[in-house]
Amino acid sequence: MASIKGCVHAFLIFYLSIGYLKTASSSKSTDTQYVPLLNKVKTPVMAELDLSKLGEQLKTFMQIEIKKVITEKMVLESKNIHLKLKNKISSAIENFKTSMDAYTDGVLHNTSITMRMNIERKLNQTFARRVRRFRKIMHSDIRSNLQNVKREIDSVLSESYNKSNAYKPDRRKLRQLSGKIQGMSKHLKDQSYDRNGQEAELSSKTYGKDHKGTLFFTMIPIQLDHPDNVYAQYIITTDKQAKVDFFSEYTDINRSVVITTGVAYIDIPSSVLMLGIGRTYTTVLIQSDQLITVVGFFGKSHCSISCESSSLIVLPATVLGMDYSIITQPNNKQNCGIMATDTNTTVVIESASVRSISIGSTTIKPRQKFIIVLDYLEGFHIQTDNHLTATKIYANKPIVVISGNRYASLKEDFKCLRYCRSYFSDIVYESLIPVDKWSRHFIIPLIHKASRYSIRIVSRNKNATITIQDNSGVSITKHGDLTEVDLSAKSYYVSASNPILLSLYTITENKGINMMILPGIEHFSKDYIIAPPKDPFHTSYISIIIKSSDVDGLRFVSNLLAVESTVIMARNESFITVVKKMGGHSVYKLRHLSKNACYGVIVYGVGRNTAYGYPAGFRF
Ligand SMILES: *[C@@H]1O[C@H](CO)[C@@H](O)[C@H](O)[C@H]1NC(C)=O
Ligand SMILES: *[C@@H]1O[C@H](CO)[C@@H](O)[C@H](O)[C@H]1NC(C)=O
Ligand SMILES: *[C@@H]1O[C@H](CO)[C@@H](O)[C@H](O)[C@H]1NC(C)=O
Ligand SMILES: *[C@@H]1O[C@H](CO)[C@@H](O)[C@H](O)[C@H]1NC(C)=O
Ligand SMILES: *[C@@H]1O[C@H](CO)[C@@H](O)[C@H](O)[C@H]1NC(C)=O
Ligand SMILES: *[C@@H]1O[C@H](CO)[C@@H](O)[C@H](O)[C@H]1NC(C)=O
Ligand SMILES: *[C@@H]1O[C@H](CO)[C@@H](O)[C@H](O)[C@H]1NC(C)=O
Repeated sequence: MASIKGCVHAFLIFYLSIGYLKTASSSKSTDTQYVPLLNKVKTPVMAELDLSKLGEQLKTFMQIEIKKVITEKMVLESKNIHLKLKNKISSAIENFKTSMDAYTDGVLHNTSITMRMNIERKLNQTFARRVRRFRKIMHSDIRSNLQNVKREIDSVLSESYNKSNAYKPDRRKLRQLSGKIQGMSKHLKDQSYDRNGQEAELSSKTYGKDHKGTLFFTMIPIQLDHPDNVYAQYIITTDKQAKVDFFSEYTDINRSVVITTGVAYIDIPSSVLMLGIGRTYTTVLIQSDQLITVVGFFGKSHCSISCESSSLIVLPATVLGMDYSIITQPNNKQNCGIMATDTNTTVVIESASVRSISIGSTTIKPRQKFIIVLDYLEGFHIQTDNHLTATKIYANKPIVVISGNRYASLKEDFKCLRYCRSYFSDIVYESLIPVDKWSRHFIIPLIHKASRYSIRIVSRNKNATITIQDNSGVSITKHGDLTEVDLSAKSYYVSASNPILLSLYTITENKGINMMILPGIEHFSKDYIIAPPKDPFHTSYISIIIKSSDVDGLRFVSNLLAVESTVIMARNESFITVVKKMGGHSVYKLRHLSKNACYGVIVYGVGRNTAYGYPAGFRF
């Protein structure tokens, strides 16, 4: 990295210029003309600086080294000052070089090729502010302090020099000077600088984990009757070069893929979509050497009237939990898949249905605990016409829970039950987020081509109060642990007295339906990488939910066309939904100029009487 090495140089210039002293006087100390100390001290050239810790490092380094060097200068007798300084400066430079090299190596080691390429750009963007601030400090207080100190040291030293044989330093003056240096050190510790440094980045503790990971467990709990013309794929996106491995006991899934272009579409056999009921090993493990985002997508490759499609985000293993509640549409076939990520995983299912659910030869009885022990990578597939919403599933080890509907339809269209596949029906699936990661505040975004919404909410609190407010201030309040509300297609703010799981069903103008587990405001993440499914039918969109004050800092890679936007108040703040249309089959990256800005993104598409949708990510 030229620029990182470049900044090492910048510092060396700084220290070498102090070191100038040594070359000017190395021959004969007594008759060497005194070279005013610190004359050559320059403001470090910091335009090329990056690396969050560097400001901090520099600060500490300067503080220690300047103090050391100056104190040394004052204490030293004129006779050996140059020799000592020479040693000090050489070792200081060496130390600095070593630590910078180690740091640089660390950074390079920890970053991918693309990251390295980005570093240069980020240097300018992220650190320009810091550099300006540091320069300002340098230019004002520190610089004038240095000037004063320099003048006084000069006078002390030049007196000594001029006195030729009298090497007694002026103790009183030296004490005064050390006082000043202490003050300067304090200044270098300036709180405002520290605070600024911290504000510039979300600490990893605050930021937490997000939708990106290196290990994923998943399955597709669906039983299609006719898998003809059906295809299933995983869409893997990453901004690094990544090697991704797929493992399954099922045939034709095992493979390794190297991603170099930001996205890979992994086709898997459509027979996976004919998953048997009950225990199954038709599950998939995905492992990568870099952070990736995984989305599952399936649909029909040829269709005239009745197309179907669905998609789900696959959550990384790091964010899985042990306690879940299911949400499904109440009518028609409902499915749920449970997958164990460890051996000997005891799973308990507490059905919320009032009727028994047959799972092959066994039965899940209402209001009773159904216990099953699953092995590593073993799945359990439930399919029923009985209502699954609010069914609790918990385990002694992290599990994956995916729920959905083989035929989703709407209450009003219930009459179509028998012929749903032909018109008012679609397939909807989503990965569920564990109970301990639920949220209380949500913004339902504007969704392009939506004709109406239906939201389904579960809470673990029987008395949860849920308020749904639109942008004209009209609000609906609901109580209970299971809420369903039909809404017209616009933006809403949903707030709950307790953590909730919110599933948003969108009925699109073309009679498609999609399901999304909506990220709460607390889930807003950043740095999304999105690729639409590779099929010829869908026109794909994203809706971004962001604080209105942050919208200007959004940056996009690839061609996203502005479609519409709307503003909504939530938690006393103004948020905006920005809808964009994807220009084609490309990789879309969403970035923000501010590291602090988090925002929600949902991805969806419509085509031929079908729709798909999924949340682009979460932060937990
Ligand atoms: C690089 O990663 C290692 C291990 O994760 C960590 O200990 C080290 O601090 C990292 N270095 C930098 C410069 O971030
Ligand atoms: C950084 O910004 C400065 C001015 O803003 C510009 O002259 C310089 O070329 C930029 N450097 C890089 C690596 O982008
Ligand atoms: C020391 O001598 C230099 C010339 O060699 C002179 O410029 C300077 O003023 C003298 N300093 C003092 C304190 O006498
Ligand atoms: C896929 O790879 C895993 C791990 O190497 C192996 O256990 C499994 O049998 C393979 N599946 C098939 C269908 O070959
Ligand atoms: C499985 O877990 C149960 C408790 O959850 C334990 O009693 C049993 O010994 C475990 N079996 C194995 C084979 O580890
Ligand atoms: C729910 O509210 C009712 C009446 O306000 C109260 O009687 C009941 O105890 C509450 N239940 C819980 C679980 O808080
Ligand atoms: C919103 O503002 C009102 C009035 O300014 C205040 O009473 C309320 O506590 C605020 N709510 C939040 C969540 O900050």
